[in-house]
Amino acid sequence: MSKQWWHNAVVYQIYPRSFMDANGDGCGDLAGITQRLDYLAGLGVDAVWISPFFTSPMVDNGYDISDYRGIDPRFGTLEDFDALVARANQLNIKILLDLVLNHSSDQHPWFKAALADPASHYRDYYIFKKPAANGGPPNNWRSIFGGSAWQLDDASGEYYLHVFAKEQPDLNWENPRLRQELYDVVDWWLDRGVSGFRMDAITYIKKDPSYPSLPPDGPDGLADLSPGTQTRPGIGAFLTEMRDTVFGPRNVFTVAEATGVPPQQLADFIGDDGYFTTIFDFNYCDIDIQPGGIWHARSGHTVGQLRQAVYESQQASLAVGQCAIMLENHDLPRALERYLPAGLHTDAAAKALGTVSMFLRGIPFLYQGQELGARNFPWENMDQFDDVSTKDQYQRALDAGHSSRRAFELVCLRSRDNARVPMLWHDGPGGGFTTGRPWLPLHPDAPARNVKNQEQDPTSVLNYYKKLLALHRGEYCALFYSGGFEACPHKDEGVFAYLRTAGGTTILVVANISLQQAEGVFPQGKVLLGTHRQTGMRTGNTLALCPMEAVVLRCE
Ligand code: NOJ
Repeated sequence: MSKQWWHNAVVYQIYPRSFMDANGDGCGDLAGITQRLDYLAGLGVDAVWISPFFTSPMVDNGYDISDYRGIDPRFGTLEDFDALVARANQLNIKILLDLVLNHSSDQHPWFKAALADPASHYRDYYIFKKPAANGGPPNNWRSIFGGSAWQLDDASGEYYLHVFAKEQPDLNWENPRLRQELYDVVDWWLDRGVSGFRMDAITYIKKDPSYPSLPPDGPDGLADLSPGTQTRPGIGAFLTEMRDTVFGPRNVFTVAEATGVPPQQLADFIGDDGYFTTIFDFNYCDIDIQPGGIWHARSGHTVGQLRQAVYESQQASLAVGQCAIMLENHDLPRALERYLPAGLHTDAAAKALGTVSMFLRGIPFLYQGQELGARNFPWENMDQFDDVSTKDQYQRALDAGHSSRRAFELVCLRSRDNARVPMLWHDGPGGGFTTGRPWLPLHPDAPARNVKNQEQDPTSVLNYYKKLLALHRGEYCALFYSGGFEACPHKDEGVFAYLRTAGGTTILVVANISLQQAEGVFPQGKVLLGTHRQTGMRTGNTLALCPMEAVVLRCE
C-alpha cells in the first residue's frame, strides 16, 4: 500500500466533556479543544480522536446519540466544529470522530417514530421482539450496563433490544435502508473535513438471529450476551459493505473498537484487505481483572504477565497488519494503577511504560492526561461518580456478596470516571479547565500535575512524552509502524526488551519496570532516547539498567 498519513501517526484521544471548557459552564466544549490545539501540535500529535459531541441526552456521555448530524449545545455549534477543523488543518492535525452505529439514543427521532407507530418503517430500524411464552423478555441476555438487555414497550407489548443502557436501543443492521442512513451520516461528516473515524462497539452489529437464551452466569439468572451479539457469523458482510461503500472510495482512516475478535479472524479486520485500517489492541488492558466479564474479580497479575501479554499480542498481529496501541482510554482507569503494583505508581514508571508502548508495532494512541502521568482519582464516596456503568458495577459487586466498603474499593479501582475527571492545564482556579464548577471534581493533584508546571520542568513526564513523540515521527517512523518485532527474553520479569527491525536497521527498546537494578546482554548501539541522564551505561555487551530506566537505541 502507498504511504498514508497514519503510517507515521500518533493519535491523541480527547474526551470533550473533560478537556477544555471555553464558556465557563463546567463542561468541556469544541471551542475549548480549538484553544488547545497548539498544545497538541507542540506535543507532536498527528491526529485527534474526539469522543462523541453529537446531540445527546448524555445517559452514556454522548455514546447515546439523538442526532448524528447535530452538535450537542453543551459542546457548541457546527460553526465551532468548522472552526476546530480549520485550525487543525493549519496545524496539520487530522480530526477523527467517534461513530456510534451499533445503537442510537432512545430520543433519536427514528426510535421515537418506531415507538409512536409500530407500522412505520422506522420500527424495523430497531430490534423489537414478542415476549417469551411467560410474558417476560424474549431471552435472558444481560445488558453490558446491567439488567435485562430487553426493555418493554408498554404500548405494543413488545420488547426492544439494548446491548448497552436501555436508553441506547440497538439499531437493526439487517435493514438495508437503515444501513444507507448510517452511510449517509459518514459521508456528511467526511464532507465537513474529517479524516477518519473510531468505530464504537462495532463488533455488536450482527446478532444471533435465533436470539437464544444462554446458560445463566450470575445470581440474576441472566447471561453475558456476548455469544449472541459479538463478532457473530455474518458480520463480515455488513463490514465489507460499509468499507466498500463509504470508507474505501474516500481512503478514510478507521480504527475499530472491535472487541471479541478471535486471533484467527484478525486478518479479516486489519491489514490491506481488512474491514478497518486498524483495531485497538485490547489484549492486555483488562489484565488487572479476571477474564470473563466479572469485573470485580481482581486478577492479581504480575508485571511479568503483563510483559508476556504485550509480547504475545505483538506476535499475533505481526503477519497480519497493524493494531492501534494504547495504554489508556475513556473507558479505563489510569494505566499506572491498572498495570503496575502499588509502589510503582510513579512518574518514572509512567515514562518507562510510555517508552515500552510507544515503539510497539502499530499506531500509538494516547489518552488525555496520560502525557502528564495522570493517576486515578481519590474517590471518597459513590455520590461523586457520574458514569452509568460505574453505578451498575457497584450494584453488581454488592449482588455478588461484597461488602459495601469492598464494593466501593473495587469501583474506585475500575471506574471509567478515573479517566474522565477534567484535564489540568495550570494550578490556578479550575485547573485551567474551567472558570465555572467542573462537571466532575478536579483531581487534587492539580497543583503539581498540570500542563503548565510540567512544561517548565525539563524532567517532567510531559517533556519526556514530547521526546517519545519526536523520536516516533523521525527517520524511523516506517520501522516503528510496520517493522519486525522480536522480544528479547530476560530473567527479570520487570525488564521489557524488544527489537524492531526494517531494511537493515534495528532499534532496541529496553525498560526496567521495577525497583531493582537490572542488567542484560543486549546489542550495542547509539542511544536515541533515555529516561536517565547517563542512560545506556554498559560494560562490554552488558547494559546496566537503573530502576525504571528506559533506553531506546539504534543497534550497530
Ligand atoms: C464503547 C465506548 O467506548 C463506551 O464509552 C460506551 O459506553 C459504549 N461503547 C457504548 O457506546
